[in-house]
Amino acid sequence: MTEKELMDLVGRAKAARDKAYVPYSHFAVGAAVLTKEGEFFTGCNIENASYGATCCAERVALFKAVSHGCRDIRALAVVADAKQPVPPCGICRQVMIELAPRAVVAMANLQGETKITTTDELLPSPFGGGFL
Ligand code: THU
Repeated sequence: MTEKELMDLVGRAKAARDKAYVPYSHFAVGAAVLTKEGEFFTGCNIENASYGATCCAERVALFKAVSHGCRDIRALAVVADAKQPVPPCGICRQVMIELAPRAVVAMANLQGETKITTTDELLPSPFGGGFL
């Protein structure tokens, strides 16, 4: 992944954030993933009156990629309006370790601060199918 590719992905996540459905938290998040084939999928958080039914932006983007037949995710970006770049929640990390285990992850805020990490750095010692 080049710096340019990652910043392009962050830009797509930022644009996707505009579609967030957040009547409860008012905390809009955008995400984007890049597949091995070079395809992009974006997502935003989608909340629900039954709060637990809410889906984070990262999972929306990942599920869109997988539902389009893309199983090899190279990178994921997540953008929110926060003092610091926002890290994915625990549920999203568990989904990322399953669906994007080798992905580079760019976390950014609207001021342009960006932190780069990887899925396995975000979730060391994960539970996985090997235990079943
Ligand atoms: N949220 C995300 O979409 N991604 C994250 O990385 C953190 C949290 C959403 C869930 C909920 O709609 C709102 O942000 C507040 O938690």
